[in-house]
Amino acid sequence: MSYPVTRLRRLRKSASIRNMVRETEVNRDDLIMPYFVCPGENVSNPIKSMPGNFQLSIDLLVKEVQDLVETTGVDKILLFGIPAEKDETGHVACHHDAIVPKAIRALKAALPNILIVADVCNCEYTTHGHCGTIIDGDVDNDSTLHTLAAQSVTLAKSGADIIAPSDMMDGRIGAIRAALDENGFQNTPIMAYSAKYASGFYGPFRDAAESAPKFGDRSTYQMDPANSDEALREVEQDIIEGADMVMVKPALSYMDVIQRVKTTFNMPLVAYNVSGEFSMVKAAAANGWIDEERLIKEILTSLKRAGADVIITYHAKEFVLSELKKG
Ligand code: PBG
Ligand code: ZN
Repeated sequence: MSYPVTRLRRLRKSASIRNMVRETEVNRDDLIMPYFVCPGENVSNPIKSMPGNFQLSIDLLVKEVQDLVETTGVDKILLFGIPAEKDETGHVACHHDAIVPKAIRALKAALPNILIVADVCNCEYTTHGHCGTIIDGDVDNDSTLHTLAAQSVTLAKSGADIIAPSDMMDGRIGAIRAALDENGFQNTPIMAYSAKYASGFYGPFRDAAESAPKFGDRSTYQMDPANSDEALREVEQDIIEGADMVMVKPALSYMDVIQRVKTTFNMPLVAYNVSGEFSMVKAAAANGWIDEERLIKEILTSLKRAGADVIITYHAKEFVLSELKKG
């Protein structure tokens, strides 16, 4: 008998055999594409730190999502709003004619079959850029629950298919679930940003959404990057309060958390491949240092391998286009 008996390379011999034993695949249906919607008409502001992404007015957003659906078949989007005016508490986002509710109604009129995930938070809507109401120099948990619940109900009334709170207040899933139910939205799912870390990887997003905090940072409400036991407690709490899907965010530096959450709870799990992760790829590609298409596929595949069922990614459109091109 020749040594070694076990030769793992046997199953790597040809493309055909590798295709047969491949464990993980990224499907179009796993992907959600984020968009930023702003006031005005015919507005398309390039976001410098996120090449290929734009702040779009509603008319151009509708056209862009039409193009997304036609060219890629991706039919799931996540919406963020840039309001005309901000206030102290984020109450501006709770109005029927706030920017995201208006955008949802326009999108649903043009494209009734798309799936719209509405991010719920206050940081885009507050003058100070924090995710809730400030009392004594910090975000007050319980008063923030009111704006989050009101914003969620407004979004559901406008046709949001999934409500996705990203604020990290304690008790928000329960508060939002109760408010949705009271208003007849028992069947609207909640995608909870459960393990959301206070991360440097959100830098480009805060340019895009104009939501950077004017003082301090988010570390009194978002999680410490050093912790993962605590992530399990956050996820458990959100499940108890009624979350239908849970999220780990950011994704790439937190794959261990993705795996722990998946194996512990067996819940539908979303990974958010955030702005900084996207922009690092773009910057390296612009310098000619990496093969961009290859890297994007490797990143998305590795998130699925770690345990993500769904991936929110700014690469969604370009990824599917390049897969279709390959045939
Ligand atoms: C707002 C929110 C943020 C992101 C999603 N929702 C930023 C933050 O918490 O500062 C980050 C998304 C990204 O970086 O792509 N609460
Ligand atoms: Zn926020």
